[in-house]
Amino acid sequence: MLYDNLTINEKGHLCMAGMDTAELARQYGTPLYLMDEERITGRMRTYKSAMSGYFGAGSLPFYASKALCCRRILELAKAEGIGVDVVSAGELYAAESVDFPMDRICFHGSCKTKAEIDYAVRLGVGFFICDNAEELRRIDAAAAKCGVRQSVLLRVTPAIDPHTFAAVATGLIDSKFGLPIPTGQAREFTRLALSLKSVVLRGFHCHIGSQIFDKQPLCDAATVMAGFAADMRDELGYSAEIIDLGGGFGVPYVESEPEIDIDDTIRLVAEHYKAEMSRRGFGETAVFMEPGRSIVGDSGLTLYEIQDVKTIPGLKNYVAIDGGMTDDPRYALYQSRYTMLLANRAGERADTLYTVGGRCCESGDMLGEDISLPEARVGDLLCVLTTGAYNYSMASHYNCVPRPPIVMLRDGKSYTAVRRESFREMLACQFDDT
Ligand code: LLP
Repeated sequence: MLYDNLTINEKGHLCMAGMDTAELARQYGTPLYLMDEERITGRMRTYKSAMSGYFGAGSLPFYASKALCCRRILELAKAEGIGVDVVSAGELYAAESVDFPMDRICFHGSCKTKAEIDYAVRLGVGFFICDNAEELRRIDAAAAKCGVRQSVLLRVTPAIDPHTFAAVATGLIDSKFGLPIPTGQAREFTRLALSLKSVVLRGFHCHIGSQIFDKQPLCDAATVMAGFAADMRDELGYSAEIIDLGGGFGVPYVESEPEIDIDDTIRLVAEHYKAEMSRRGFGETAVFMEPGRSIVGDSGLTLYEIQDVKTIPGLKNYVAIDGGMTDDPRYALYQSRYTMLLANRAGERADTLYTVGGRCCESGDMLGEDISLPEARVGDLLCVLTTGAYNYSMASHYNCVPRPPIVMLRDGKSYTAVRRESFREMLACQFDDT
């Protein structure tokens, strides 16, 4: 099995966290997202202890809530004492709704509106990760209006290729995010921040991309950030207190992808970062990171019921499921690979190839091609692994398909963290009385 929380019971059913997923599908219906709570909190703890242990005092992971902005996960992050990274007023609102401590929130995003900035300053978020000069001026004006001084980190692009898929590579010079170091724009950005009265420059941020397995680009980014921090000290007399290295640790979706040892990778990056800083005579800084996928990705799976099986002779076998791009657009967007199996026949040999088609009226609505399954039958439960990140959060209402529920598993029990959307809820904004 791809992960150690997955087993097969005596009925041949797939179990997650010791619970029979076929039984859960019967109880809650399909499509259904299932999540293993202990695995999520375990990841949060690993990040927290590794970061304070290897980077030192004040260092903290901020859960990137774009991966799955679910109030229950935010409650877990709050209880575990980690921070949260939000990228919109909506994500901030979700954090506010669980009384998340504002001093542990980073407000991110490459295009924050004035209304969003005002809202976040008013709430007193700990840090803005500021994308560009115009935005910095807007934050300064909002803070002045509120009579506060707002902590900011500046997002800079270190020109590092993270060796991941193009849609999620963000640290190259040609990027819509942040301002590049090599062009000198990051330095001018710093100069501007130091000149403004109502922002307090606390340090610098970079995020080179997502689904990264190679440790070298992470170390290279640390080197560039250490160099930039030292240059700003030497050129502008400014010493950063915090360096934020972003998120991006990869998660194996298929057997051929490696599993990243989070603790060990942080140890390695921290050793490298500290050596680079001390080589430049820089004292200790706090370090932030923003893991999303590696906190929730492999804690989730999705169950669908197979509605139809179709063979085009000499060409292909298709299975049609009761979900698809509306609950998981990642294959349609990035041709992302997944591991799939039949949850009700998990022990059987997977010797037939299928194309998994979603229910939407769109040829691109697929979850995978050339997927090995046992010979599939109508009523079988198709399970897609590793759907905890960027599935529910990217779900849509295309074809007026309501969003599935998220059911959490903990201590041998299940509970609903997000209930199944009703048709009425899906259309709520179209009725006058809601
Ligand atoms: N920090 C920043 C500034 C980010 O842009 C992201 C992800 C993260 C942290 C978290 O990265 P993670 O640890 O999750 O790799 N929808 C795509 C992924 C988009 C990632 C966007 N930014 C997917 O489904 O693969």
